[in-house]
Amino acid sequence: MAHLVDDKCIMCKHTTCVSVCPVDCFYEGPNMLVINPDECIDCGVCIPECPEEAIYQTDDVNDKWWKHNEYFSTTGGWPNITDEKDPMPEYEQYSKSSEDKTKLFKAK
Ligand code: SF4
Ligand code: F3S
Repeated sequence: MAHLVDDKCIMCKHTTCVSVCPVDCFYEGPNMLVINPDECIDCGVCIPECPEEAIYQTDDVNDKWWKHNEYFSTTGGWPNITDEKDPMPEYEQYSKSSEDKTKLFKAK
């Protein structure tokens, strides 16, 4: 079981989630965050902190967001983020968007 971040975070990156995580398992990319599923202790306190409802819990290791979160929080080399900061400047345009924002994703 782990908590994961999905594409609803892309271009928003509010970062309110990181300030509540007791094990500091969020990692930051250019336009989204991910969670390290091996470090997450499934406390669930980050879920209500995300205005985009981008965080969810699953036990499916084949979930595409599991692989994405796992990769970028480890091999992909994104840095750990522990302090909240301003959201992305464009967040109002992309907030609550019903579109699949995957195409906007940037790995670096
Ligand atoms: Fe951190 Fe808890 Fe959210 Fe996991 S569920 S990412 S441990 S706040
Ligand atoms: Fe992203 Fe939501 Fe955190 S938009 S940075 S998962 S608060």
